[in-house]
Amino acid sequence: MTHHAQPELSWGQFPTTRLRRTRMQGWCRELVAEHHLHPSDLIWPVFIQEGKNTETPIASMPGVFRITLDLLVEKIKLANQLSIRAMALFPLVKSELKSPYGDEALFDGNLVCRAIKEIKNAVPDMGIIADVALDPYTNHGQDGVFENGQVINDLTIDILCKQAVVQAKAGCDIVAPSDMMDGRVGAIRKALEQENLKDTLILAYSAKYASSMYGPFRDAVDSAKNLGSADKRSYQMNPANSDEALREIALDIAEGADMVMVKPGIAYLDIVYRAASTFPVPVFAYQVSGEYAMIKAAGNNGWINADAVMAEQLLSFKRAGARAILTYAALDIAKAIA
Ligand code: PBG
Repeated sequence: MTHHAQPELSWGQFPTTRLRRTRMQGWCRELVAEHHLHPSDLIWPVFIQEGKNTETPIASMPGVFRITLDLLVEKIKLANQLSIRAMALFPLVKSELKSPYGDEALFDGNLVCRAIKEIKNAVPDMGIIADVALDPYTNHGQDGVFENGQVINDLTIDILCKQAVVQAKAGCDIVAPSDMMDGRVGAIRKALEQENLKDTLILAYSAKYASSMYGPFRDAVDSAKNLGSADKRSYQMNPANSDEALREIALDIAEGADMVMVKPGIAYLDIVYRAASTFPVPVFAYQVSGEYAMIKAAGNNGWINADAVMAEQLLSFKRAGARAILTYAALDIAKAIA
C-alpha cells in the first residue's frame, strides 16, 4: 500500500488547495497571469546603412537586415502601428570613414544623425535611442580611444560627450552610452545641460558584461574584423560578478541616468532581478544578437519553435523585473501578440 503524504500549507491543504484549478482553462490562465508581454514593452534595435532601397541580410542573424534610410522610415511607421514605442539605431559605417578616434561619430551629417531627422520627421512620436560609443566608427573596433594597447578612459569621455550632444541636437530622445567608461554618464549629463539639452534622456548601459554573445552584432556593424582577437574585458564587466553590477547602476543613477540597462539578457536575469528590486528606476534588458541568433538557428533547424521560445524568453525578462526589452524580434513578436 502506498501512502500519499499531504502537504502542510498554512492557507489550506490538498484537496482544498488545487493549484491546477486556475490552470485548467485558457481564459483563467490569462486572468491570473502575473505578467503580460505588450508591444510597448519592446524596443526595436535597427541596423542602418548608406544607399537606397537596399536590405542586406546579416548572415549570423536570420531575419535581420541592414536597411537604407528610405526603407527605414516605412518600417518605423509599421512599428508605430504595432504599438512599438521606441527604437535604437546602429550604423554600418563605411570602412573608409573609420578612424583611430572615430571622428565620423562627431559629424552632424553622419548616417545616424540623418536617420534621426528622417524618423522624427515621418513618425514624430516614435522614441529614438542613439548609442553613445565609438566602436562602429573606430578602425580598431574598440568603444573608445585605443593607445598602447589600452582604451583610454577620460580622453574617450571627452569624445563621447561630443557624440551625445551631436545626436541630441539631431533630435534623438535618448542617448545610450554603451561604452562602459567610468564617469561617462555624469560627463554626458553635464555636456547636455551646457548645451541646454535638458530633456534628453540617458539610458545607461550600466551593467554591460564582456560577453561572447555580441558576435553577430559585430558582424552587422562590421567591427568584428577590426577588433580581431582583441576583447573588451578591460571595460565591460566580468560575467562572474553581480554585486559589482549594483555598484555600476548606483553610480549611473547618481550621475544622472534616467533608465539603466542590463546586458546581455537571458543569462543575466539574476542581475535584472537584483537591479529592479534594489533601485526605483526603470531597468531595461537587452536580448543581444547572440541570444537572438541561437534561438533563430535552432528554430531554422526544426529543433525548437523559435517564435514560442522568443516569446517565452521575453516574458521571462518581464517576470525578472525588466520594464522594457531591446530585441531584434520586436516587429515579429509585436505582430504575433497584437
Ligand atoms: C557597442 C555595442 C555592442 C552592442 C550594443 N552596443 C557591441 C559590443 O559591445 O561589442 C551589442 C548588441 C548585441 O550584441 O546585440 N558598444
